[in-house]
Amino acid sequence: MKLTVIGCGYLGATHAACMAELGHEVLGVDVDADKVARLQAGDVPFFEPGLGDVLRRNLDAGRLRFTTDHRDAATFASVHFLGVGTPQQRRGYGVDLTHVESAVDALAPLLRGDHLIIGKSTVPVGTAAALAQRMSVLTAPGSRIELAWSPEFLREGFAVEDTLEPDRIVLGTGPDDHATDAAAQVTAEIYREILETGVPFIRTDWATAELVKVSANAFLATKISFINAISEICEVVGADVSTLADAIGYDGRIGRRFLNAGLGFGGGCLPKDIRGFMARAEEVGAGEALRFLREVDAINNRRRTAMVELVAEAVGGDVLGANVAVLGAAFKPESDDVRDSPALNVAGQLALRGASVSVFDPKATATSRRMYPMLTYAGSAVEACEEADAVVVATEWAEFVHMGPEELSGVVRSRVIVDGRRCLDAGAWRSAGWRFHAIGGPM
Ligand code: UGA
Repeated sequence: MKLTVIGCGYLGATHAACMAELGHEVLGVDVDADKVARLQAGDVPFFEPGLGDVLRRNLDAGRLRFTTDHRDAATFASVHFLGVGTPQQRRGYGVDLTHVESAVDALAPLLRGDHLIIGKSTVPVGTAAALAQRMSVLTAPGSRIELAWSPEFLREGFAVEDTLEPDRIVLGTGPDDHATDAAAQVTAEIYREILETGVPFIRTDWATAELVKVSANAFLATKISFINAISEICEVVGADVSTLADAIGYDGRIGRRFLNAGLGFGGGCLPKDIRGFMARAEEVGAGEALRFLREVDAINNRRRTAMVELVAEAVGGDVLGANVAVLGAAFKPESDDVRDSPALNVAGQLALRGASVSVFDPKATATSRRMYPMLTYAGSAVEACEEADAVVVATEWAEFVHMGPEELSGVVRSRVIVDGRRCLDAGAWRSAGWRFHAIGGPM
């Protein structure tokens, strides 16, 4: 089939490459000429394991192409995925829909004949209905544009795998039954190879599809903040939250995944999505239903401050004048994304309190520098740790998890390590003469 993907950021670029991998002819469209040129040259503008290979393989096979021209998209295909960003508004907790709206405004008037637009971006409930209304005004006489919403559940670091082997495909469609069946048939055909493996295909209305996505992220965020709240108790009474998580996680109803206590969640999705969900709930008059998410957010933010306090305690009460090495800047390993990164937040707070902070991340130095130019960045973990009074592990990259104390023992000024992700072997560090501290209680 022929498809376009409007918006070639993280979601769109991955989706375009993966749809081509399924054998479709795909045109990726983005307003950013630089991004388009890089993708067309086989260069992924962000770090995502495995995506470069899929991109280049499909460019070489002639199944994938990128453009800045919406007119090209309008004539290339009759099915268009919408994968533009929906960031948090600059003021307040609401979601900024400018990119979604301008993509629709740019594309819809150019479409002739019957077209299907499938939204993939994470949007507040009610967005698809509002966009359908917007499109009805923009559609050329005699043409028809059907809108469906199929949220994306991919994780950074596993984007290709999650797109090609999803847990489920959700498709929300509008009120017109006939058009709805046609949209579902087209979508099922696009994902045929995936659906044949038994992946559930859930057909529903627009509002449910939109809510599925934000509810899933709200649940994940709640699970993380739940274990982090328990970890606050563990810290006070001297219990071990990791063993506790293992023990409750054996209960199949609870499950062990997403119960890793530590610095909490960050990134471009979970924090923004719970806030956007709360804001939308208020707008529809059901704000009370999601008031608990405020607490989820507050617990999450408290972990960052708790970490700074723990570092201060580890260096004798005050970080003023201390050299602190922060290992990790990305919001999680296998990513160069530093949006709302707990690691960089901690690094920033330490710097504000007068510490001399040196940050190292295997992949996120460039993105960090752009967002936080005031911090100092090292070229390696060892370099960051030179003359350090404390070493802080803030992102659980494998290279930090497997790093032995011997690598750093001769480099630091004081053998003090603070594990913000509860990912290190405490025994190994202690036996090498290090003072070992972990957020979330004894290890
Ligand atoms: C998240 C969801 O997991 C995806 O399903 C969703 O599609 C995506 O948001 C999105 O909305 O686009 P992602 O932001 O890539 O994916 O990252 P996660 O793997 O969910 O991790 C989020 C944060 O939670 C990270 O900062 C991670 O360190 C933290 N986390 C995760 C914990 O603190 N503890 C855990 O046990 C798990």
